[in-house]
Amino acid sequence: MLLSLPLGLSGADLLVNALQRPGLSLDGQWAYLVDPYDVGLYDYRARAFDRTNPPSGGFAHDQSWDDETRLIEYGFTDDRTLPVPGDWNSQDEQLWYYEGGIWYRKHFQAPEERAGKRFVLYFGGANYQTDVYLNGRKLGTHIGGFTPFQWEVTEHLREGKNSLVVRVDNRRHPEAVPTTSTDWWNYGGITRSVRLVELPETHVADYWVQLDQEQPDRLQVDLRLDGPDAAGKTVTVRLPELGLSQRFTTGQDGRAQGTMPVKGHTLWSPDHPQLYDLVVESPQDRVGERIGLRTIGTEGQSILLNGQPIYLRGVCLHEENPLRSGRSVTIDEARMLLTWAKELGCNFIRLAHYPHQEAVARLADEMGLLLWEEIPVYWTIQWENPDTLANARNQLAELIQRDRNRASVIIWSVANETPPSDARLAFLRTLIDDVRAQDSTRLVSAALEMHPHPDYPGQQVIADPLGEFTDVVSFNQYIAWYGGGDPDNLKNIRWKVLYDKPIIVSEFGAGAEPGRHGPRLNRFTEEYQAWLYEKTLPMLDGIEGVSGLSPWILVDFRSPRRLLPGVQDNWNLKGLIGRDGQRKQAFYVLQDFYEKKAAEAEGKQE
Ligand code: GCU
Repeated sequence: MLLSLPLGLSGADLLVNALQRPGLSLDGQWAYLVDPYDVGLYDYRARAFDRTNPPSGGFAHDQSWDDETRLIEYGFTDDRTLPVPGDWNSQDEQLWYYEGGIWYRKHFQAPEERAGKRFVLYFGGANYQTDVYLNGRKLGTHIGGFTPFQWEVTEHLREGKNSLVVRVDNRRHPEAVPTTSTDWWNYGGITRSVRLVELPETHVADYWVQLDQEQPDRLQVDLRLDGPDAAGKTVTVRLPELGLSQRFTTGQDGRAQGTMPVKGHTLWSPDHPQLYDLVVESPQDRVGERIGLRTIGTEGQSILLNGQPIYLRGVCLHEENPLRSGRSVTIDEARMLLTWAKELGCNFIRLAHYPHQEAVARLADEMGLLLWEEIPVYWTIQWENPDTLANARNQLAELIQRDRNRASVIIWSVANETPPSDARLAFLRTLIDDVRAQDSTRLVSAALEMHPHPDYPGQQVIADPLGEFTDVVSFNQYIAWYGGGDPDNLKNIRWKVLYDKPIIVSEFGAGAEPGRHGPRLNRFTEEYQAWLYEKTLPMLDGIEGVSGLSPWILVDFRSPRRLLPGVQDNWNLKGLIGRDGQRKQAFYVLQDFYEKKAAEAEGKQE
């Protein structure tokens, strides 16, 4: 049973740019214990040790059996470790299918110079429920497998050696987000970096700096100091390469919002991913990063980047390194996947179906790739469960807070293939309202499905009521794979989209085992997959208002749903690239289509 969401934990409290600030990286080898019966959490009468704080027992106390006259029945040992960040499934073959609790333990030396400083323990992410204990005291619980979370630990650090014990439980639950049924591997563990961030007593906790979407000769600035000396302070925002510098004064709440003129800059775009150093300096703190300046919007059925219509040459991507079939957790792995997308001719990636590691959006800023980011509100969520809604809202807030300084991110998506109902519409409208409130500058979408419609017999109709509330109407379709005849039938399909908005076809595809060849009517041959792309692309190109595609999917990936022996063996084979990096025939069909689309766009610009 999931604990209900801890109070006070929300995206707005997260430190911005935490992993790049001064501090101590806690990445590396952590001792671990596999605990399928949760004996580290409950006594033999199933009473939670966490009823008290410090817990009345369990693994949080990191005891060692150094006095053999005493009985203890657990222990962490440094010769049994797992690397953090990482998923345990791919790190130990005994854990490949494991769904349950695993306890991690890290010893670290507290920084010696601590006077006048504050310390935040920051996790980039852990799947799925995470309980954190420092020196035997519980800091809290985070629910959600793909977004950052943190606690201030200034008062909990002790001289010399500190014991950090973290329990991660990747069990699936019907009330969770995602729910029990997904088409991806349930990788568990501390899958993102962990850092003890060192901060001045009053520090720059948050900043959001981007081009004013209505007045692109100005920057919007929103920043927040945190600490005893946060009110009425001067904070300078600088973009040194542009000779920009402006002072802002914080209010009683430590926040300052305003605009500053900007000129002489190059707008960020996939073709020109120009970034500029941003420096935010307060009396006690100085923090910054590189940002791109661009606008994003819609006009009729066009998506406008910097005021010009853009066609999104996209592809979907799971966060998995196929070469070792585990969560992609390093910057190099992320760079490999994004480079493959660039090779395909992409200017856009749909990061499916959950927030990917923070480095991906930073790399996309550098490499010139537009991003769709989403939370795992996927398939049959418990629409009427308030805890489920609170969980989804929290994950969305954490994602937006983490990535809203990234020029590459243009779309926040709130759902994938969710069955229409009044309860589902209410749930998703709440999420859309949250996006509007937290970041009104980006586009909102959701991957919808097509449904028969009495007014349009024989047509494939996109009439999902949710389309009324999104900026972009996106839908997944698998005609000629999951039914609908063979690819030659696609020329007969008639489409009807009931919204006068930009359209993204957010999924289509077919499975192909790399290297399997044969008559093109044979499923799982590369020939069938290529044939489907050859016939799908012109069909979709004929739908008025299609402003982009993100076919499913760049790379084959692991899934417990794909069980055809000798062919799938737990792999979803809709990738355009196989698990060993092989480019399938369909890769070149799409690459050719995107080359033509890019040439068309060039021609329009001339
Ligand atoms: C769905 C779903 C994907 C899934 C894909 C498939 O559209 O969104 O997560 O992997 O279809 O069936 O392969």
